[in-house]
Formats: sequence, C-alpha cells, structure tokens
Amino acid sequence: MEERTGTGAQKKQHSRTCAHSHITGLGLDKECAAIKTKDGFFGQENAREAAGVIVALTKKQKMAGKAVLLAGPSGTGKTALALGMARELGERIPFCVLAGSEVYSAEVKKTEILVENMRKAIGLKIKTVSTVYEGEVASLVFNGSPKAFTDGGKKITEINVELKCQKGKKSLRLDPSMYGNILSERVRTGDIVTIDATSGSLKRLGRSETFSAEHDIESEIYLPVPKGDVKKVKETVHQITLHDLDSAHACPKDGQDAIALINRLGKTKKTEITEKLRNKVNASVTDLVLKGAAEIIPGVLFIDEVHMLDADCFAFLNRALEMPTAPTFVLATNKKEGVVRGTGIRNTLGISNDLLDRFLIIQTQQYGKEDIKAVLVIRARTENISMEEGALEALVEIAERTSLRHAMHLMAPAEICAKSGGFEKIEAAHIKEAEELFCPVRR
Ligand SMILES: Nc1ncnc2c1ncn2[C@@H]1O[C@H](COP(=O)(O)OP(=O)(O)O)[C@@H](O)[C@H]1O
Ligand SMILES: [Mg+2]
Repeated sequence: MEERTGTGAQKKQHSRTCAHSHITGLGLDKECAAIKTKDGFFGQENAREAAGVIVALTKKQKMAGKAVLLAGPSGTGKTALALGMARELGERIPFCVLAGSEVYSAEVKKTEILVENMRKAIGLKIKTVSTVYEGEVASLVFNGSPKAFTDGGKKITEINVELKCQKGKKSLRLDPSMYGNILSERVRTGDIVTIDATSGSLKRLGRSETFSAEHDIESEIYLPVPKGDVKKVKETVHQITLHDLDSAHACPKDGQDAIALINRLGKTKKTEITEKLRNKVNASVTDLVLKGAAEIIPGVLFIDEVHMLDADCFAFLNRALEMPTAPTFVLATNKKEGVVRGTGIRNTLGISNDLLDRFLIIQTQQYGKEDIKAVLVIRARTENISMEEGALEALVEIAERTSLRHAMHLMAPAEICAKSGGFEKIEAAHIKEAEELFCPVRR
C-alpha cells in the first residue's frame, strides 16, 4: 500500500540550524526512563519522563478531556520538550505550534485562529482505491502533429501506448489531452509509468532495470518490470489534516499549480473558511469514518506563552477539550501567577481556574552550572563550533548572570570574532568581545 502525506502533516526540516535543532527526541530508554544525555537533551529528567508518558497517552488516544501544561522559568527547555514530544510521536501524528500572542489579529477572531490551529492538529488517514495501469513502456506512438498541438491546435488525434508487465502486455489509447503530461514527464520507451484510470494523470516512476547498463554514471532510478497485470487495483493511504480539507474546499477552483499558489497570496484565505464549510467537511469526514474509509488521528496542538491568551480563549479551550476528536493540547508558560487577561483577576499561572483543573502539569526546573555547561556543549557540537575550556566557562558564567538562551546566541558571534582574528577555536576573550557587542535583555 502506498502512503502519501498531505501539506499540513509534519515535515522534517533539518537544513538550517534553529534554536532546537539539536533536539531529536526525549532521550528515554525502553522503560521510559530518561537517559541523562540523549537525543540532544541533558538533565531535566522528570519533565522528560512525564512528557514520555504524554506521548504514550497521545498514541493511545487517551488524552481527551485533559491538557498538558509545561510550567517553569524561561529557558528551562519547555519548548524543547514540546519539540522532543513531536519527534517521539513521529511524522504520522500532526503537531501544530502556536504562540499565545498569535491569536490577536485585527482581521480574524481569536477563536477562529484557535479553531484553525486545532484543525491543523487533527489528522485524517483516508484510504482510496483506484484503478491504475502500470508497466514498462514498450511502445509510444503519437498520431497527428505535436507542434500544432502545442501551438493550441488540435492536431494530436491519438496517443497509443503499450505497457508491459511480468504477466503480459496491454495496449492503451490515451486521451490526446494527455500529450502535455507525457512531455513534462519526459516519457520514452523503456520507462516505468503509472496511469490513474479515473483522472488520466500519468507519472513516470523511473527506468526499467533492463536498461541499467546504459551509462557508466547514472542519475536514474531503475525499477524492475512491475509484477502481475498491467491493470491493477491500488489502495493508497493519504494523510492530511482537517485544515488541509477546509482549505481545499475553500478554494475548489484554484488548482494546485504555481500560478494558483501565487494568486492565492493576495486573498484573505482565512475568512473564506466559514463554520458552514467546516460543518460540511465534518459531515463528509464522519461519513467516511463510518464507512471505514477514513480514520481520525488526533495530533498535538502546542500553545507556547499560554498566559497571553485571555478569558474568551480559555473558555473556548475548555469546551474544545471535550470534543471527541480533540487534539492533545500541550501548553507552556513561564508565569507563576498573573492577571487572567480579560478578567482583571489574578490567578495561578495567569490562567482561569476552570481550565487549570484539567491540566496535567509538568514542571521544569531551573538549571544549575552543570546543566548549563552540558547544554552549551551539545549546542556547540550542533553548530559545529569549537571552543576552548575557558570560553565555555565564560559562557556558563554569562548564562547564569543573564540567560541560557543569551549565552547560546553569543556562540556564533564569538566564532566570527575568533575567525576574524585568525583563531580556529573560540577563546574566553572572544566570548567577552561578543558579549560587549550585544546587550542582554536583563543584566
Ligand atoms: N535540558 C536541555 N537539554 C538540551 N537543550 C536544552 C535543554 N533545555 C533547554 N535547552 C535548549 O536551550 C534553549 C532554551 O530552551 P527553551 O526550550 O527555548 O526554553 P523555554 O521554552 O522553557 O523558555 C533552547 O535552544 C533549547 O533547545
Ligand atoms: Mg519557550
């Protein structure tokens, strides 16, 4: 069975080093105990083990009605924990990230932004059964004048293709409108192709193994001649999110090509997805689920800086948690207490009481010298930065005095200072130089 992942599903992006690119998981062993240094993590063992339990509960779809709150001082790894959870859940489970402050927009209602992000965090596995013609192109003949056709004429009158499989051959007459598709896929005899019987779309999969000795150096993908008959019934699993479906239904006539994408930029797409449209999508989804053709996969919605939300949002989340297909909510805050926005009332963590009741709280602990040093070492390795012991000590001291994040951010500038002075490794003086250039938020 073939698997396809939709646009909303999580994708790996490792090409650029970002603040958390050293985090590759939660660093737990088989018994779900935290290994001190693993998967880019160091220390914070309790929180990592608790996060591991949440991952297990999410996989078993047992998080309905409750939410997780990562609480702890700034720079103690709350966002890193959430991303570690995403890595542990794997690509199949959607993971959507939202900052609390993002809900405030002049054009879109706060709850609308929350709904949209919730739907980005709910996956749908849809099985489709389609008939395809698959095989090695034994012959490909165009009748008519190709030039006239590309000029807008109708001279291509017939396309005949013969496909070969291990069980036999089949001749197909293709619609002349498929000429462009065949050209863009650069199909020639000896290629392995698949043609969808319903949509008529043709895809080149590679070249037949029979031709694998054609060149000394190859950039081609060689495939065996497909087994069985040319005509096949194929089951494909598509993984998309409810938001993908909403968007697709909101712009049904736009198409998916580059021009359509550019044209969409000018449109306020968000307002096009109405509640009515979502209800329609929900009804079709329910129907598919009842027929056994689709499966709902609740993912994770991570809301960072959750204290930035207000009473309306908290009331909305309270209701949303009860939904049978709700994603797992993972929230994070660095406030111990504060005014609940929109009420003027002070409360623990700056969050309203009715929502606090539903939380499983994971507390992250302030780091000591050893933890800071270990995290900085991991980070330096990820950024491919070499430091003398003295430079590391200087950074640890800065992290204690300002913040871990600020110390981390000084690494790359210090490397520039070192390199411009002709040094291979960063020395304490370069850290000092970088520190003087950039001012921390708090001293
Ligand atoms: N225990 C840890 N192990 C490895 N890296 C960590 C750890 N804790 C924090 N970090 C890294 O330190 C930086 C600050 O942590 P972050 O997760 O942003 O903190 P918070 O979200 O709590 O403010 C990030 O780059 C993060 O990846
Ligand atoms: Mg954070």
